[in-house]
Amino acid sequence: MTLAENVPGSARVGIPWHSALCCPRCGGSLGNGDELRCDGCEARYPIDNGIPRFVPRDNYAEGFGFQWNRHRLTQLDSYTGMPISRDRLMTGSRWSVDELRGRSVLECGSGAGRFTEVLCETGATVTSFDISSAVHANAASNGRFPNLRLVQASIYDLPFPEESFDFLLCFGVIQHTPDVERTFKTIMRYLRPGGRFCVDVYAAIVAYPHPRQLLRPFTRRMSPAKLYPLVERAVPRLLPLSMALSAAPGVGPYLARLVPVANHGHLGLRNGETLRNWSVLDTFDWLSPRYEKPQSRRSVERWTRDLALREVSIERRRGMYVIRGVK
Ligand SMILES: C[S@@+](CC[C@H](N)C(=O)[O-])C[C@H]1O[C@@H](n2cnc3c(N)ncnc32)[C@H](O)[C@@H]1O
Repeated sequence: MTLAENVPGSARVGIPWHSALCCPRCGGSLGNGDELRCDGCEARYPIDNGIPRFVPRDNYAEGFGFQWNRHRLTQLDSYTGMPISRDRLMTGSRWSVDELRGRSVLECGSGAGRFTEVLCETGATVTSFDISSAVHANAASNGRFPNLRLVQASIYDLPFPEESFDFLLCFGVIQHTPDVERTFKTIMRYLRPGGRFCVDVYAAIVAYPHPRQLLRPFTRRMSPAKLYPLVERAVPRLLPLSMALSAAPGVGPYLARLVPVANHGHLGLRNGETLRNWSVLDTFDWLSPRYEKPQSRRSVERWTRDLALREVSIERRRGMYVIRGVK
C-alpha cells in the first residue's frame, strides 16, 4: 500500500508499518487504528491525512510548512526535468544506488521531498520526517512510492528505535533548529553502528556577512502570509540586478552577494519563470526561519570527535559544510 492510498476517504487502515514506530515519550509500542496509541504510557498520536503526527500542529517551523506547500514541486527533479537534487545528494554523500537499494534510510527534515524522491528511487526503505506541515506536500509528491514511510515529528522527539537505520541524510536542516549541536548529536543516535551519514550545515564564515542578516531580525517575526507577498514582489526587481552583477568578470559573485535575493543562475535552470520560482522560494527560506545558526568548521569537527565518528570528511560547498562519515 502506498501513502497515497492511505488517506481519509479510503477505508481507515491506520499505518501499515506502525510496528516500525515507537512512542517518543516512553519507547512503548504503538497500537494502530484511527490514531496511534502507546501500549505503555497511553499517549495518543493522531494520523493526519495518512501521516502520523508526533508534534503539535503549531510549532516554530510554520514558515517552512507554508513555503513547502506553496512550492511543493519547485525543486523536485521530476518537475524541473534536471538531476539537481540527485547530483547534490549523490555527490555530497558519495553513496551509490547499489549501496542504498534494500537498506534503511532515515531522512531528517525532508521539506517538500526533493531528496525523498531521489532516495525512494534507489529502492531503499526510506523513513522521512519533518516537524512542519511540509510532510503533506511530500506525501502529495512522493506518496506513490511504496517504500516511503513519512511522519510529522521533531528531531528532539522521534518515534523510532535508536540505532535502527543503515544510512542517515539531513540536508538544509540543522542550522534551522534551536540547538544545532544537540540536533547533530541527537540524529546520530538513530544510526546503527557502522551506518553512514551525510549532514550539511551553513558555514559560519560565508553566511554571516550577508545582507539578509540585516533583514532577518524583522522578517523572521513576520507571519508567512505577510512576508511571502513582499518576497514575491521584490524578486522580479532584485533578481535581474543580481544576475547583472554576477556577470561582472572576476568579482561578479561577490557583487551579487550584496543584493538580498537568492540567485540560482549557476544551476542552469531552463527558463526565467523556473529561476524566479526558485528565487522566491529560497529568498523566503532565507528570511522567514525562526532560527538560522551557521556553524564553524571547528565546532563541527568537535561534534564528530565527541561522538567518535569514523572516516569523517568535512567539505565546503557553496556556503555549506557537507559532513559525511561512518558511526
Ligand atoms: C530548509 S528546509 C530543508 C528541507 C529539505 N531537506 C530540503 O533540502 O529541501 C529545513 C526543514 O527542516 C525542518 N525542521 C526544522 N526543525 C526541525 C526539527 N526540529 N525536526 C524536524 N524537522 C525540522 C523544517 O520544517 C524544514 O522543512
